[in-house]
Amino acid sequence: MAVDFRKHPMFPPGFNAPTRFEADVYDCEVWGKIPADLEGHFYRMQCDFVYRPPNNEWPTGFNGDGHVSLFRFQNSSVDFRSRFVKTARLEKEKEARKRLWGVYRNPYTDDPSVANIDRSASNTHIYWHGGHMLTYKEDGLPYEIDPYSLETIAGSFDYNGKFKSKTCSAHPKIDPVSGEMIAYGYQATGLLSNDVYVYTISPQGEVTKEWRFKAPYVGIMHDCAITQKHILIPLITRTTSEERLRKGEPMWDWDGSKETMVAVIPRDGESKDIRWFRGPARNTLHFLNATDRKNKITMELPVSDGERTPSHISRWSFDLNSKKDQFDEELVSVANSPLARMDDRFLSLDYKYCFVGNSNTDRPNKIPSVNGQPVRATNEYQKVDVHTGKTSTFFVGDTHGLQECMFAPRSKHGAEGDGYLLGIANNYADMTSELHIVDAMQMEAGAVAVVKLPFRLRGGTHTNWFPTWQLPLRGSKIV
Ligand SMILES: [Fe+2]
Repeated sequence: MAVDFRKHPMFPPGFNAPTRFEADVYDCEVWGKIPADLEGHFYRMQCDFVYRPPNNEWPTGFNGDGHVSLFRFQNSSVDFRSRFVKTARLEKEKEARKRLWGVYRNPYTDDPSVANIDRSASNTHIYWHGGHMLTYKEDGLPYEIDPYSLETIAGSFDYNGKFKSKTCSAHPKIDPVSGEMIAYGYQATGLLSNDVYVYTISPQGEVTKEWRFKAPYVGIMHDCAITQKHILIPLITRTTSEERLRKGEPMWDWDGSKETMVAVIPRDGESKDIRWFRGPARNTLHFLNATDRKNKITMELPVSDGERTPSHISRWSFDLNSKKDQFDEELVSVANSPLARMDDRFLSLDYKYCFVGNSNTDRPNKIPSVNGQPVRATNEYQKVDVHTGKTSTFFVGDTHGLQECMFAPRSKHGAEGDGYLLGIANNYADMTSELHIVDAMQMEAGAVAVVKLPFRLRGGTHTNWFPTWQLPLRGSKIV
């Protein structure tokens, strides 16, 4: 039976309809001038859908097939390539010419013929570390791909058997001082287990340390934060159960009756040294940065107090000198996107700036409505001083919506925030996608360059930039 997405509730006609193609664009059209000091590789992940999911699929779209986009910058020119991650799951479905896997993280809804095949769609994030380019999805182990050709090498990447967790979060963190990666898996020993395994991985790609502990309940643990002394892994009140899965539902359901819990792990300590802090029910997935000062940890993050309320940038504080097991919370910025990034050279260190999306409803909006409903897009990137709240803003225009941005430093050792924001914009007027490049020191001046793609990309998940001092360019063009 041929593929037919019509009347699926997740895919009204428009920007988020499945795209299902791979592309190469040599020497992309560029409006403006690409800065000469911007050289390297910009990657983004996207969930696409090659086959039609069940109608009760989690409407976030996070169960789509992993798809990588690469923008290669050299000599003020850009080449583009996109490829699917050739997961075991996608290859099996292509063979069958139909969807075999069920709804988000619910194996009870899968076709019985695929019970023993890796379920990961490898669709969430991408990192270059230890000589490997890995694509991540938190319900399985990473896939390794070639950083230049984007061809898939292999799945179930487990660091030669040393990464014992059956899962790996899509949000590992790289310590800019030591070069170590901190990575972890939750539901580490199998579906619905409350086991959490945490690892330190050396710059050479060797597992050097492991912690194992149990979470107080089974909830989403999507991201972590690191300081120079600690690892923080929040457990958020989006929960699940065997009963829910047996009913055929996607894994997560909001449970505002539970407390948010945060595991604080000493990097030089053992599993027995882990301390849990608690706070009110919170809805959040991503964490900006955390720092240690006099045995007190502060962590900034986009967070909301309910399932449907908008995010704001807040600061959580953890006083390790006190016996109190609650964290404190204060508002930093009302910028309302759940996606925020920073200058990653300052991850785990004292820092000043975050870069966060914002949907400003006071701005003009000419984005066509979908099914009679107005489309509210992220129309600004804001640079926020996390200490003073001082903000400067880039507005993308009245027909565009912005995806997650990434900060690219102008040089290896330049000042924090001296560089560029890279972010994909949906051009709803032309139904095409663009990569906007904004000077982070002159946000209000508008994009210095726009890379025009002759097609549409779906909403992306996460992005990463690897400058030439981290991942060298190979040759003079995309290969
Ligand atoms: Fe994420």
